[in-house]
Amino acid sequence: MAVLVGYATAHGSTRDIARRLAERLRARGIAAVAQSLDAVSNPAAYDAFVLGSAIHNQEWLEPAAKFVRTHHRLLKQHPTWLFSVGSIGETSGAFPGWLNRSIARFRGESKQLRRYREGTGARGHRYFAGVVRSDVPNVAGKTLVTVFRGRYGDHRDWADIAAWADSIARELSASKSARR
Ligand SMILES: Cc1cc2nc3c(=O)[nH]c(=O)nc-3n(C[C@H](O)[C@H](O)[C@H](O)COP(=O)(O)O)c2cc1C
Repeated sequence: MAVLVGYATAHGSTRDIARRLAERLRARGIAAVAQSLDAVSNPAAYDAFVLGSAIHNQEWLEPAAKFVRTHHRLLKQHPTWLFSVGSIGETSGAFPGWLNRSIARFRGESKQLRRYREGTGARGHRYFAGVVRSDVPNVAGKTLVTVFRGRYGDHRDWADIAAWADSIARELSASKSARR
């Protein structure tokens, strides 16, 4: 079983998460490769997909959005999971703990993500916090950091990332044995 962990990144934190997901899947015996979504030449070569993007202004970056738009039929025929990397994940984030937790709990699914989930038949979607930088242009983000006393820096929760990869590995192994 070959799994594509495809990503779109602006500043690298989503790429590192994708690499870690792929490493973890490989450690569970699944042939996973992490690749930038604008460099995938033959998506039909994969049996399952884990696709993610950094979020900018509430949306996925274009290479990831384009990949899903272009290949949604293929994705629907294979097990697919989606992830988004922003300032607040499900277990960590750039803001004080209470605020991270409330946003993680109450944020609804954006229209874009609903389209992607439905269009690809994705089995799940997970938010991860990434690296929030002060040295890149992001006026809205910087205002939020100031107003809500957020912190710049690396907010990735590697244990949560590994646990999500493990849950995907379990599902893939279960569907493989069911097919035998
Ligand atoms: C221009 C810009 C816009 C952003 N917009 C959002 C946003 O709407 N929501 C969010 O949670 N994070 C937002 N972020 C934070 C990034 O998603 C976060 O830093 C992420 O880790 C970036 O991933 P990357 O390092 O792979 O590019 C924004 C960052 C930038 C630079």
